[in-house]
Amino acid sequence: MKFFADTAVVEEIAELNELGIVDGVTTNPSLILKSGRDILEVTKEICDLVAGPVSAEVVATTADEMIAEGRKLAKIADNIAVKVPLTWDGLKACKTLSSEGNMVNVTLCFSANQALIAAKAGATFISPFIGRLDDINIDGLDLIADIRTIYDNYNFETEILAASIRTVNHVSECARIGADVITAPPSVIKKLASHPLTDNGLEAFMNDWAKTGQNIL
Ligand code: E4P
Repeated sequence: MKFFADTAVVEEIAELNELGIVDGVTTNPSLILKSGRDILEVTKEICDLVAGPVSAEVVATTADEMIAEGRKLAKIADNIAVKVPLTWDGLKACKTLSSEGNMVNVTLCFSANQALIAAKAGATFISPFIGRLDDINIDGLDLIADIRTIYDNYNFETEILAASIRTVNHVSECARIGADVITAPPSVIKKLASHPLTDNGLEAFMNDWAKTGQNIL
């Protein structure tokens, strides 16, 4: 399973990159706002840092304007994935941009049928939002499982990019279901390494080691 960092903060991506675990990055207008940076500038910096796909989102609502924005974003670097919303116009933009050889991430997916039509329209990635479904009492992980079944039934090549991940359990469940990619905030990715029993065990080992009076170095 690939790990994408869901952030536009370069320092956060660089920290995760030290472990070599960043397979890509996703951004959106809200994350650009949070970063306080210029979209073209920060996206270029991220693309220089990470070899894998870096999603940059269009902000237009008509297909023609999305296509124009998408073409401009795609010029930033070879690893740009143009992110378009799952609207009829977004799907038209997806079709055109993917036919031109660009990676396209279709975002704001909340149903299996939306995922199906995005795959038909040539999406490279589909982004179902788990957390935002959970927020309205619908199990977002069920959607990931449904899309996995549908894509496998017909050998669609569109990758399931599980988004709006809020917890470490979302990550392990996505791995169990078989999502191709998870995109998560760096804080969640860092928590994957934590377990209270690891902390307790280490503390006990350190206490016993101190009593031996020995040194390794
Ligand atoms: C990523 O592509 C999405 O934009 C992001 O995961 C949304 O997450 P949120 O629902 O926590 O804002």
